[in-house]
Amino acid sequence: MSKTIFMTGVTGLIGRWTAAQLAAGGHRVLGLTRNAKSREPEFRNWIAAHGGAPECVELIEGDLETPGFGLDARDRVRIRDVHQIQNLGALMEWGGDAARMQRVNVDATAELLAWAETMPHLERFVHISGYLVTANAFWRELGFDREKLVANERAKKRAFRKLRERGTPYETTKLEADILVRRARAGGVPAIIVNPSTVIGHAETGEAHQMFGIEGLVRGVQTGALSAVPGRRGDWIPLVTIDYLARFLARVPMLSWTAGEDFTVLHQGTPELARLIEVIADELGKRAPRHHVPLWLLKPLLKAGLDRKTGTPVEALAFINSYRFDTSTAERAAVEIGLSHPGIEQALRKSVRYLAAQTSQVSQAA
Ligand SMILES: NC(=O)c1ccc[n+]([C@@H]2O[C@H](COP(=O)([O-])OP(=O)(O)OC[C@H]3O[C@@H](n4cnc5c(N)ncnc54)[C@H](OP(=O)(O)O)[C@@H]3O)[C@@H](O)[C@H]2O)c1
Repeated sequence: MSKTIFMTGVTGLIGRWTAAQLAAGGHRVLGLTRNAKSREPEFRNWIAAHGGAPECVELIEGDLETPGFGLDARDRVRIRDVHQIQNLGALMEWGGDAARMQRVNVDATAELLAWAETMPHLERFVHISGYLVTANAFWRELGFDREKLVANERAKKRAFRKLRERGTPYETTKLEADILVRRARAGGVPAIIVNPSTVIGHAETGEAHQMFGIEGLVRGVQTGALSAVPGRRGDWIPLVTIDYLARFLARVPMLSWTAGEDFTVLHQGTPELARLIEVIADELGKRAPRHHVPLWLLKPLLKAGLDRKTGTPVEALAFINSYRFDTSTAERAAVEIGLSHPGIEQALRKSVRYLAAQTSQVSQAA
C-alpha cells in the first residue's frame, strides 16, 4: 500500500536518495525545505534521474530554525495526516554556530516529536542519530548513563550543560536529539532510530554531493597534509554506501516489527583506518602515510592551529574509534528486504574518484 511520508532534510545526502527510493516504490514524499518553489523543478529532475517517480515528490516551504517551521495552514493540515515522518534534516558542520545547531538539530526534533504524538495515522517516526551513540564505551568515556538522561530531565539538563562546554556542537546536539527521541518513544511515539556510520557515495558511481565524514581525509591525502595515520592500529571509521542506506530507510520502517527498534547501519568489513587511507592514496596516486599519530597528541596540535593547515578540525577526530558495533538488528531487517552490502573497498574507490573529479571541476571553474 502506498504511504505518505513527511521528510525533513529531503534535499540532503541521505534525504534525496531515500526520497528517490520511496518515490520508486510509489510512495508519496512531502519534503520540507527552504525555497521550495524555486528548488522543486531541479529536485524532481534529480529524483527522476535516480529512479524515482518525480510526481511522487513535492517540496513544501519550511525552515527548521523557525518555530512551527513557518508552515502555512494548508501544509500543516496535510502533514497531520501522513503515515511516516522521516527526520533527516540537520545542520552538519564542524565548529558551526552552536545556537543554530541547537535550533535545527534539537528544537526542531522536539517540535516534530510533539506533533507526532497527535498525528492520527502515524505509523513510524524515523530519526537518524549516528553509530557512535550505540557504543556503551562511548557513553562511558563521556561519563554519562544514557538511560538516566532519557528518564530524568534534570540529569539531562545537567549533562548537556557540561557537554556543551566541550565546544563540539554537532556531536552534542545530535546526542541531545537522540535522548529526546528515546524519551518520546518511551511515551508511545512509534519511533525507530537509525544509526548510520560515515556515509560515502553510491557503490556503482561514487555519486554523493557531500561526504562529510571522509572529505577531510581525502583532502589531506590529496594535499599531502595527512602525513601520519590518526589514531592507533586497529582504529577505524566504519563506512556505509548511500545506496544501501537509502534502500534501508525507504523499506525497513515499513516492516511491522520495527517500531521501537534501533538499527546500526554500517559495513562490518570496513578496513581499519590505515588501510582506508592506503586505498584513498592509491586511488589518488599519492603516497600513504605509514606511521600512526595517537589522538591524544593530535588533538592539542589541531587546536593549536594545525587544523587550518590540514583542513581537519578537532571535532572530526570523534569519528575515529576502536569500538565495535552490534549490527545484528539491522542485518536481520536487511535480509528481510533482500538488501546486501556492496564490496566496501571498491565502493570507497568509486567515492574517492567522484570526490576528486568534483574538486578538480570546482578548481578549474575558479
Ligand atoms: N552523512 C553522514 O555521513 C551521516 C552519518 C551519520 C548520521 N548522519 C545524520 O543523518 C542526517 C542527514 O544527514 P545528511 O548527510 O543527509 O546531511 P546533509 O546532506 O547536510 O543534509 C542536511 C539537510 O538538512 C536540511 N536543513 C538544514 N538546515 C535546515 C533548515 N534550517 N530548514 C530546513 N532544512 C534544513 C538541508 O537543507 P538545504 O539543502 O536547504 O541545506 C539538507 O536537506 C543528519 O541528522 C546527520 O546528522 C549523517
